[in-house]
Amino acid sequence: MTGRKQNESDKSATVDGAPVAPPCAMAIFGAAGDLTRRLVVPALYNLACAGRLPDAFRLVGVDLAQQSGQDWAEGLGETMQQFVTRGGGEFSADHIDRNAWRWLTQRMSYIQGDLTDPGLYDRLGAHLEELAQTGKTGGNVIFYLAIADRFFARAVAGLGASDLTHETDGQWRRVVIEKPFGHDLASAQALNAEILKTLTESQIYRMDHFLGKETVQNIMALRFANGLFEPLWNREHIDHVQITAAETVGVEHRGKFYERTGALRDMVPNHMFQLFSMTAMEPPISFDADAVRDKKAEVIQAIRPLTPPEALRNAVRGQYDAGTVSGNKVNAYRYEPDVAADSVAETYVALKLEIDNWRWAGVPFYLRTGKSLKSRQTEIAVRFHQAPYSLFRGTDVERMHPNWMVLRIQPDEGVALAFAAKRPGPTVRLETVQMDFAYKTYFDTAPSTGYETLIYDCMIGDATLFQRADSIEAGWQAVQPVLDAWTEHAPDGFPNYGAGSDGPAGADALLARDGRSWRPLS
Ligand code: BG6
Repeated sequence: MTGRKQNESDKSATVDGAPVAPPCAMAIFGAAGDLTRRLVVPALYNLACAGRLPDAFRLVGVDLAQQSGQDWAEGLGETMQQFVTRGGGEFSADHIDRNAWRWLTQRMSYIQGDLTDPGLYDRLGAHLEELAQTGKTGGNVIFYLAIADRFFARAVAGLGASDLTHETDGQWRRVVIEKPFGHDLASAQALNAEILKTLTESQIYRMDHFLGKETVQNIMALRFANGLFEPLWNREHIDHVQITAAETVGVEHRGKFYERTGALRDMVPNHMFQLFSMTAMEPPISFDADAVRDKKAEVIQAIRPLTPPEALRNAVRGQYDAGTVSGNKVNAYRYEPDVAADSVAETYVALKLEIDNWRWAGVPFYLRTGKSLKSRQTEIAVRFHQAPYSLFRGTDVERMHPNWMVLRIQPDEGVALAFAAKRPGPTVRLETVQMDFAYKTYFDTAPSTGYETLIYDCMIGDATLFQRADSIEAGWQAVQPVLDAWTEHAPDGFPNYGAGSDGPAGADALLARDGRSWRPLS
């Protein structure tokens, strides 16, 4: 992002113009886990290939698994190789650059231990001390918590008790915390309170990987770097907004997690609210981390609180039944591994939200997300008001030609504008046409897991793309009435949508009530 603390970085620039990150060590808790293998290490490798990591970089794996540093590095190398040969991971490349991988593995070490054991933190501290000398890391450390969320507070307290989070002159200590940050408002508040006993807010980097997506960052560029759109970006001109994160994948091997999480907790107060706040926030006065995060927090705080009856009326839940997705037969959710035969966990959610501020009063924001749907499609669709009167009344076409602006987040990243044009010919016939910008036709993009920007930003001390406590709590606050209402009222008729469909009928009814309809999934 643009609010980088450049003074912290090496002055030498990399090929893409960004400065090399400053000397530092990164200690990953959960080093033997899925997240480390699939995302964090591949992202570090991509950063190494791009020349963005400093020579004085050191990577310390911390995990309960009994293995040597060499075993750890070899296992990671095998996973990377599998992604290359078999695909199917977030990391994709046609080969592994041997030099870059060697460069990274030469900087790796491993500490085995239990994060509930205070001795682990002392050993880690001694090791980091040694790396500060031998590896010249300057004593700067990122502690990356790629662990189950129930251990977040424990790990932060352990680091604090061994004095590892203390920042002395010229050296920094930062902690990256993964999702999920809490399971409801009370637990998110409790977790914030707990970690803030040890850390200052500026040391905490709460991760939401949607913010690592280029297209999500581009929403700000589109809105604030162009004179064209911002004057139209309000209730005077916008009828409503639809935010969709549709997935074709089911819950796969994550049944256990999903049973206690569900689609609302998994996607809405975090990922969907990132898309929502980027779309609806006021212009920040600068791209500084706090200026941007102030505006994002404000708009989430301005979501109109739902009363209990509204929570039931304005939120729709669904669970997938058996069906066919992309030509493949899919089991019903209740037949997935680790899922109860009478599960009431939702795999789909649609919500209608309103914002109580001058810009958006009266403009509904409809959000929907779900698993095992017809297509993978994440987008923000802005529907403009109809032209106020029809010049073409009385002609044989009185069809509606709404103006839509669609920001495609993934796949086929781009922006499209739909508007009416006259079909050539002797009579006046209108047709909806599209102006379409696709990223891939304009830019060469480097291979990315989406984590590169976030890890690099943490290294240079730019928190713009990380979640602040107030935004997280405001997000939970907004969805809490729905969580409460759903706890109190069991869902009717689950499963209620077929795998491979557009979602449950109730979601269509939510918009139909307002005289609107969802854009079909393509
Ligand atoms: C994760 C959720 O945070 O985000 C998953 O836990 C979801 O359930 C995923 O599938 C979506 O992310 P992406 O980047 O694949 O759109």
